[in-house]
Parts: sequence; C-alpha cells; structure tokens
Amino acid sequence: MIDRRGRSTVSVHGGEPEVRADRSVTPPVVLSSTYPFADTAELVAYMEGRIERPHEYGRYGNPTVAAVEAKLAALEGAEAAVLTASGMAAITTTLFALLRAGQHVVMTSDVYRKTRVFVRDTLVRFGVEADVVEPNAGAIAAVLRPATRVILTECPTNPYLRVVDLPAVVAAARAGRAKVVVDATFATPINYRPLALGADLVVHSTTKYLGGHNDVLGGVVLGRAPHVDAIREQLGTLGGIADPLGAYLVGRGCKTLALRVREQNRSALALAQLLEGHRAVAQVWYPLLASHPDHEIAVRDLSGGGAVISFELRGGLAAGTKFVDALRIAKLAASLGGVESLVEQPALMSYHELAPEERAAIGIREGLVRLSVGIEDLEDLRDDVMAALDQL
Ligand SMILES: Cc1ncc(COP(=O)(O)O)c(C=O)c1O
Repeated sequence: MIDRRGRSTVSVHGGEPEVRADRSVTPPVVLSSTYPFADTAELVAYMEGRIERPHEYGRYGNPTVAAVEAKLAALEGAEAAVLTASGMAAITTTLFALLRAGQHVVMTSDVYRKTRVFVRDTLVRFGVEADVVEPNAGAIAAVLRPATRVILTECPTNPYLRVVDLPAVVAAARAGRAKVVVDATFATPINYRPLALGADLVVHSTTKYLGGHNDVLGGVVLGRAPHVDAIREQLGTLGGIADPLGAYLVGRGCKTLALRVREQNRSALALAQLLEGHRAVAQVWYPLLASHPDHEIAVRDLSGGGAVISFELRGGLAAGTKFVDALRIAKLAASLGGVESLVEQPALMSYHELAPEERAAIGIREGLVRLSVGIEDLEDLRDDVMAALDQL
C-alpha cells in the first residue's frame, strides 16, 4: 500500500510497526546468523510449507534487514525491497536474475562505470548481448529486439546529470518483453518516483543519499513483490547480502533523508546558479538550470535537482586541480549524496587510467569537476567555492 503521508513523515515512520514486540522505538539489531527450530517436527513442517517462520538462516533473511527493507519500500512507493551489500551487488544480482544466455540488454552510455564493466566483461561471458546507447528514449527504442529483456538506465546520470524521458522509455519497452530498471541513486525517492512513471525495478546505492553519512556501503532493489522475490532468490545464491549493522545504519540515515535532500536541493541549485555566472566556468550541468539539455524533462519528472553539480573550468585539468585543492570545506573523495560535501575531477578519479583522447571520445572533459553538496551552511559553501574560483 502506498504511504501518502509527507516525505519527512515517511522518512521517519514509513514501513515501521505501530508498536514493536520489545517496545523499542528503533528496530533492534539482530546479529544472529541462524534461527533454531524447536524440534524436528517444526523443521519438517517448515520445509513442507505447513508453517510460516520469518527466518531460517542469515543469508536468506534477517529481522533488522527486513525492517529497513520495509522503510525503503514505503519511501519508494514499492510493494517490496531487498537490501544488498553494496550498490554494485544490487545491480549485478538484478541483472543475473533477469538475464539468460541469448538474451539482450540495453544500457545507456553514462550508467555507472562499473555497471558497464560488469555487462561488458562479465555478462557477455554468459552469452548475454548488450547495446550501449545515448540516454534518450529514441536511441533506446532503436536498438530493442525481440530478445531484449532489460533496459537499464540511470537518472540523473553521472557526471552530466542527464534525465531520460522515462515514460517514453517505458512505452517503448511495453512493445516487447523488456523490463525497465532505473538506477535512481542520484535522484533519491525524495526527488524522483520511477515506479510511478512505469519502471519495473528501481535500484539505489544506499552508500550515497540513503545511508547519507559516508559510513556504510549498501544497495537496494525495489519493485513489485514477484520481481523482488526473484532477485532475493538470486541473492541467496550469489551471497551479496546486507549485514544487519550496515542495514541498521541505512535505516537510521533514512530518518533524515527528506530533510537532508531538501537542503541539498536548495544549496546545490543556488551554487549551480552562481557557478554559471563565474568567468572561470565554461559550462554547468544541473538538471534544474534552464541551460541543461534535459531541463524540460527534469522540471516535469523531478521534484528537486539533487546534491550533485558538474561543471567545466576554462583552464582544463590544471584549473580543476587548483580549484579542488583550494576548497576548504568539500573533501576530495569519491562518492556523493552524504552530509559532507565531496568534490572530484572525473578525469583524475573515475577515468584516471584513460588517455585524454579516450576520455574525450566518451565525453569526459579534462576541466570537469563534480561537486556533491552536503548539508553545511549554504553561506559557508558559497564563500568557499567562490574563493577557490576567484584565484583561477
Ligand atoms: C549511480 C551509481 N550506481 C551504483 C553505484 C555503486 O554503488 P556502491 O559503491 O554502493 O557499490 C554507484 C557508486 O558510485 C553509483 O554512483
């Protein structure tokens, strides 16, 4: 059932029971790896499906993990959710569950680099064929085949924050048998509702906004119960499950999700507007700026632009380095979406092993900087960013 209360109310209370058996206000962290049976009669009754028990063995389920899954399902408006050890475990498990040899997957060109690497280097070894296309509905529709079973896209994408026209992608997928899977890590359930727009499954790296404090790795897959059950079944075999302590941290992070994301939306939009007016900046990508290539779709489908701003400095790599090293608040680090502002140069971090020509060929500009805005005061962030830009 969809929880129609406000986003902050659902962040705090969504998916939680009115009263817990132990009367605690927070879900207990259950560290048990196994769940004993009373006797052989109970074991046999369970195995024959005559009685229900919540859990049997830690790889197949855990009460703390289940409580956090219920909260994330409420936030996303999903029937069911399954937590995983990392965002990559969510993606790889989902693709293994959905694809067989001889089938075909379509991916958009700026999906997370390791997702592309997984499809290109691993899935193809199991006889799955793949096409990588521009993140727009026309390009996706053009490569669909009868054997296409998955369309995998991200929204907004990294680093250019492209916003795909999801209803149009869903319409194209409905002509065949492909499931639409959206990695909405950059959007969060506060800013974007892919299931309501027709997607079959949504994936998040909970390492980012949902955990929110740069202290836990995790992932989640959400959607209709039969789809999520199939992924849970695959996860039980592959083994990339969420551990109870990590799950607890994700659930605790989610309590402040709406508060954090609203603040990040506000600060990032203000900074993006300032960046756009600075002489040292060649171009800014932020979905809610009128200059963004997908601005119209963003305004239609997103209720906030998120924490990440990408921008190109006129002085290339050297200017990017000078800028990043001059910042006093944002830390130079991979990741995004958490309470601390983080900054990186994609040419030196995610794409460091490629030659400049190779980076140019896939659209990664040398002067590109990606800033993930945290929850520090906007005035402090603004002063820090402006001081670093003014010295260029
Ligand atoms: C969009 C997106 N999806 C998936 C992942 C992978 O998540 P994790 O690092 O939790 O495995 C990332 C990581 O940066 C990401 O940015």
